[in-house]
Amino acid sequence: MKKKILVTGGAGFIGSHVVRRFVNNYPEYEILNLDKLTYAGNLANLTDIEHKPNYRFVKADITDAAAMVEIFRVENFDAVIHLAAESHVDRSISDPTAFVMTNVIGTVNLLNAAREYWKGAYDQKRFYHVSTDEVYGALDETGMFTESTAYDPHSPYSASKASSDHFVSAYHDTYGLDVVISNCSNNYGSHHFPEKLIPLAINNIKNNQAVPVYGKGENVRDWLWVEDHARAIDVIFHEAKTGETYNIGGHNEWKNIDLIHLLCKIMDKKLGREMGTSAQLITFVTDRAGHDLRYAIDSSKLQNKLNWVPSLQFEEGLEKTVDWYLENEEWLRNVTSGNYQTYYNKQYSSN
Ligand code: NAD
Ligand code: DAU
Repeated sequence: MKKKILVTGGAGFIGSHVVRRFVNNYPEYEILNLDKLTYAGNLANLTDIEHKPNYRFVKADITDAAAMVEIFRVENFDAVIHLAAESHVDRSISDPTAFVMTNVIGTVNLLNAAREYWKGAYDQKRFYHVSTDEVYGALDETGMFTESTAYDPHSPYSASKASSDHFVSAYHDTYGLDVVISNCSNNYGSHHFPEKLIPLAINNIKNNQAVPVYGKGENVRDWLWVEDHARAIDVIFHEAKTGETYNIGGHNEWKNIDLIHLLCKIMDKKLGREMGTSAQLITFVTDRAGHDLRYAIDSSKLQNKLNWVPSLQFEEGLEKTVDWYLENEEWLRNVTSGNYQTYYNKQYSSN
């Protein structure tokens, strides 16, 4: 069936994988990628599909309510897959307002445009909101987040995502918009901006620079290969019932310090360094304020109801990821020049 789908944030890390998957797998769909191209948005993430006839890009800011209304008026979308966001916890600690603007106000702007232009056809349109497990707060050593875990966000980032989730649900309950939400754990893979732990560590190890590990490296994250996330979004988008929420995760918990040691071993092997060389770069630095101890996602609803399971073992995925960064030096050089250095120096200067 033909569909016109608005994907927001499609030039970012996960968004670019979602756009690629939909453009390649659904030639009958028209995909419009709307992105502001912030520091995290990069059209170089999409060079392999940018020429395809079912793909278009528009540069726009979701905080611009009038622009969102206008684009809905002109395009008559059948669905939205909303990924545009400020996504980095550390940046939210230094500048929370930007997160309120994009993640909360931007989401509400899109909901309002959908509410206005989809009137009379809410049951034929779908608003898919991509969210995070961080809305559930932090776990201690045991337990997992399920879809019924109460929201308890701690960082300005997770508070803004929690707020946006509530607005999306409220538009379903109040106006009857067809919405679905998914809450995913930490993603890793190609095209990941090197402010986040794994690509930052790969870049620093490659350049023989210190690898900053917050606190004692005891915090635990549940890592999922980004293409498995994009596949989950595809399945949920097509098969979830209206108003449903799905957790997405890898059943793949790692303490940061163990993950970094594994990464150092892979880098030693790939770079032909003596085993143990890269691990010498590990440097413990001041902990993140309010650092959530542990995230772990129970994705059994998605596995049981929609038959989704992660496809890659972590070690294999991490090797593929390292290979991608080593083969794409120009991409890495471009995104780590200019403003990145200013951010990096500010973020890590106190150590
Ligand atoms: P990212 O930072 O790599 O990409 C975000 C994209 O949104 C960029 O292309 C950026 O230019 C765009 N954007 C930012 N502000 C915008 C605005 N005002 N208007 C239009 N576009 C704007 O983020 P990501 O890691 O790809 O995350 C995508 C989504 O998935 C986010 O909603 C995030 O909360 C969620 N998520 C991320 C992870 C993860 O591990 N990275 C896990 C779960 C959920
Ligand atoms: O859980 C999903 C979330 O995962 C997403 O919603 C966020 O958008 C995404 O950024 C990610 O958040 P995290 O804060 O978990 O990811 P980050 O890569 O920033 O950090 C992973 C862990 O590594 C975390 O415990 C903090 C730690 N860390 C991070 C950096 C950047 C370090 O020890 N050193 C670092 O330099």
